[in-house]
Amino acid sequence: MLWFLVLAFSLVILTYRSKSTRRRISRNGRPIKSAPDSLPLLGHGFKFLRPRHDLFDWFVACQRQYGLETLEISVPTLPSGVVITDPVNLEFVLKNEHLVSKGDFVKSRSWDLFGNGIINASGDLWKAQRKAGLKFFSGSNLEAMVEDVLPEAYLRMKSQLLKHAEEGMTIDMQSVFLDFTSFVMGHMAYDMNLDSSHPFSKAFDYASDQVGRRFQNPLYPLTEFLFGFKLHRALTEVESFGKKIVARAAQRRSRVAFESLITNEEPAFDTLMDLLMERFSDRTIVADSALNFLSAGKDTTAQSFTWTFYALMQNPEALKALRDDIRAHFLNHKSEHGVLKLSIADLQPANIPLLMATYYEALRLYPPIPFEIQQTQQDVRLPDGTFLPKDSVVVWCIWAINRAKEIHGGDAAIFRPSRWLDEEGKFVNRTAFEFPVFNGGPRSCLGRKMAELMASFLLLNLLPSFEFGQVDGTSSRRAQNSLTLPMAGGLPCTVRTIS
Ligand code: HEM
Ligand SMILES: *[C@@H]1O[C@H](CO)[C@@H](O)[C@H](O)[C@H]1NC(C)=O
Ligand SMILES: *[C@@H]1O[C@H](CO)[C@@H](O)[C@H](O)[C@H]1NC(C)=O
Repeated sequence: MLWFLVLAFSLVILTYRSKSTRRRISRNGRPIKSAPDSLPLLGHGFKFLRPRHDLFDWFVACQRQYGLETLEISVPTLPSGVVITDPVNLEFVLKNEHLVSKGDFVKSRSWDLFGNGIINASGDLWKAQRKAGLKFFSGSNLEAMVEDVLPEAYLRMKSQLLKHAEEGMTIDMQSVFLDFTSFVMGHMAYDMNLDSSHPFSKAFDYASDQVGRRFQNPLYPLTEFLFGFKLHRALTEVESFGKKIVARAAQRRSRVAFESLITNEEPAFDTLMDLLMERFSDRTIVADSALNFLSAGKDTTAQSFTWTFYALMQNPEALKALRDDIRAHFLNHKSEHGVLKLSIADLQPANIPLLMATYYEALRLYPPIPFEIQQTQQDVRLPDGTFLPKDSVVVWCIWAINRAKEIHGGDAAIFRPSRWLDEEGKFVNRTAFEFPVFNGGPRSCLGRKMAELMASFLLLNLLPSFEFGQVDGTSSRRAQNSLTLPMAGGLPCTVRTIS
């Protein structure tokens, strides 16, 4: 009897051990290097609870020390995982969504905000929304944005800037840019005015912020149970706004259809809501999806403008070069009510290489989505040989990858737009795997072109007309804790007109 017990016990231990070694993260049968600064029990968990810039600095330090090597990290309550940096690994991960994708860690935290929208969806539900998005972001809608929506949004912004310039008041450019993108996204996605004072905007911003905090608060189910009243109210407000928007779109559709019967013309069903309603009969899916587009585009784009202006204020030579370049090329360009009359053709990267280089350089150093956390959906072997058992966490820090000397050269830490230009001044692009700011593969950002058009429109109009000056503290802005990259405390500056 005793013998039997000893035998059984050893067998259990043996199978457990062999299983646990087989299931461990490894390369060539050996454990891989761990990222530095691991604490007993806590692993690297405390790093993720630190302020954002400390976490990013740590990722940058790891990258400097170990180059493109894949490192192990451990965070309590999560399966063990790796940090990847090598573009070869990143390409593999981004192209194989069935192997590595957003796991329950991310989904369970963002579910009540994103619902069935494209950001959380997979399979057919994702595909249909992706198709609607692709159709929406191509062709005539972007033309309408450049020719009608952007000039109107810019005029609103301009009158605000003029007022501050006249009165000599400082202005927070981050909130100015957020108003600008809310206006544009509201018109593009919903065909309505959505400024930051709209109750929906407030509720939505509050909910996004709180959902972002869940990633840094392991006890969030408890704290929200106790103090989550305001969050639940905000989520309810967002939900009821979604319902209203869909109902309004449905009414508009039947009115347009009826009118087209009378006029005998094809009805124009080309808004994002139309495309979604044609694909989904379930109204909650339509509402969730439209909300996801808004949420993916509004803050990221506004933040990219804030950091671009920040970088230009820190780098007067780069600012002067771009301003001179814009003046030289657009001096005699037609304008209307003080807004340049621009078409999509004017805004092709080939026509404005230095402007694009400057925007990309700001996106490189300040990527609006600074890091990603995904999970393996089955056992996976990365191209560098690293073996990852199912459910392993895969992290990549875009902020740190974009500062890698191995990718961007010895001066990767400094702001130098000309790194994006060849000797003849032509723009030289990078693959999504070396420059993962807009993600890559099948899940790459749908709004990239839209963001680039908005950026070029904005810079072409603002830089020749306004000068922004630094006030105390303008020169050392940091990122605020969030899933994206808001600037803590905004971007206060002075503004004056240039004649
Ligand atoms: C500079 C601005 C922007 C940046 C840096 C950016 C970056 C990204 C990134 C990194 C992803 C992948 C997210 C993930 O999988 O976790 C993404 C996805 C997405 N972006 Fe953007 N984005 C920007 C602007 C926009 C705009 C203006 C829109 C327009 C509405 C937009 C729509 C989307 C959508 C719909 C997805 C989901 C695609 C899918 O899952 O198939 N983005 N973006
Ligand atoms: C979204 O995420 C939640 C939480 O993991 C999951 O239960 C739900 O099925 C997901 N929805 C879709 C459409 O994938
Ligand atoms: C760089 O390439 C990507 C993907 O092919 C494209 O979407 C983007 O517009 C390009 N950027 C420029 C400035 O040409």
